[in-house]
Amino acid sequence: MTSLKAFAIASAVASVMLPVASLADGTVEVLHWWTSGGEAKAVGELKSAFEAQGGTWVDSPIAGGGGDAAMTALRARVVAGNPPSAVQLKGPGIQEWAQQGDLADINDVATSGKWDSVLPPVLATIMKYKGDYVAAPVNIHRVDWIWANPQLLAKVGVTAAPTTWDEFNAVADKLKAAGITPLANGSDPWQDLTLWDVIALGVGGPDFYKKAIIDLDPAQLTGDTMIKVFDQMRRMRGYVDAGYAGRSWDLATRMVMNGEAAMQIMGDWAKGEFAAAGKAPGKDFLCWPAPNQGGYILNSDSFAFFKVTGADKIKGQKVLAGLVMAPDFQRAFNLAKGSIPARTDVPLDGFDTCAQKSHEDLLAAISGDKLVPSLSQEMAISRSYRGEFLDVVTQFYNSDMSSADAVRQLAAAVARVKAQ
Ligand code: BGC
Repeated sequence: MTSLKAFAIASAVASVMLPVASLADGTVEVLHWWTSGGEAKAVGELKSAFEAQGGTWVDSPIAGGGGDAAMTALRARVVAGNPPSAVQLKGPGIQEWAQQGDLADINDVATSGKWDSVLPPVLATIMKYKGDYVAAPVNIHRVDWIWANPQLLAKVGVTAAPTTWDEFNAVADKLKAAGITPLANGSDPWQDLTLWDVIALGVGGPDFYKKAIIDLDPAQLTGDTMIKVFDQMRRMRGYVDAGYAGRSWDLATRMVMNGEAAMQIMGDWAKGEFAAAGKAPGKDFLCWPAPNQGGYILNSDSFAFFKVTGADKIKGQKVLAGLVMAPDFQRAFNLAKGSIPARTDVPLDGFDTCAQKSHEDLLAAISGDKLVPSLSQEMAISRSYRGEFLDVVTQFYNSDMSSADAVRQLAAAVARVKAQ
């Protein structure tokens, strides 16, 4: 054989083999909204783990905390007939996409990984549609936290966490009188709703939260407790500095870190920011559960797998699903993310005191039936209902609307969606 002929044959063989080689490793396009410092570090763990298996990672980050912008981008991709293969998606959103027939099941990965025996039932239920796993959970985030600057609080003689909203107001009033901004918040509607979410649990307690927000009970939506929730929200507006417009949640966290504000109410993804900046809990910052009447607001990140074609992409989805649920990965990811593992069998040694507290309170809330899925983080109700809460709360917060008007508007909006 001439060397030219040998070369031609070798090239032909190689070109036949190449797709086979990449097929074995898989390609995955991941749409997510993890773009802050701590978030990018955490998602970097997943990318590296996927690439270490020889896979090709196509990153599709959509900036905007809370995921509202990412969900808009996702809809556009699906409508265009070109869905990403894996999407950061959660709660009822998973069920909605599955119901429309857009999600692929990953039962083979879930069965061989024995997911049913290592996931808390509350999460396993969210990940399944009609008994099939269509998503894989990566973590448990707690929403009802206060992140505090110990040095600023010491200036006004505060060392203990407020356990009621009246106590919180007393602390905030002291700070304000001392010329310290009590609360760091930005201007995204979802940040306002996060604040409102936490207040609703603390003012009304878990039963109220379930009846008013999950069951959308008209009597609870319009009752005195709901008025009190909006009254406290109005009070919060007075604790925020004048420069809040255009501020993202992670910049608000930075204000607490830098001593420009004493507290932020935010889920424990804020801890990912402190961790990325090398700050330690107890010393550089405090994590206090917000007044919550023994409740716990649950948020969990997961990846849902959209129906795609091509063996390489399908392979990528399965590899990613397996990785997301791998114990070592869940440990590394959650140490960076500020959350705790979704798997119940990953030991928490090496996790900080905030994570330990989150875990302890989670178990207590589950056994006391006081766990509530987060409204603000898309865990509680469908997007159409959540959108109405988002609009009313943000309009209220950014105007001088009365609590009575807000409650009226909210109840009317919920009734409108129900009638559709
Ligand atoms: C997600 C977190 C994320 C946060 C801010 C939440 O909805 O669950 O993972 O860090 O939004 O972007």
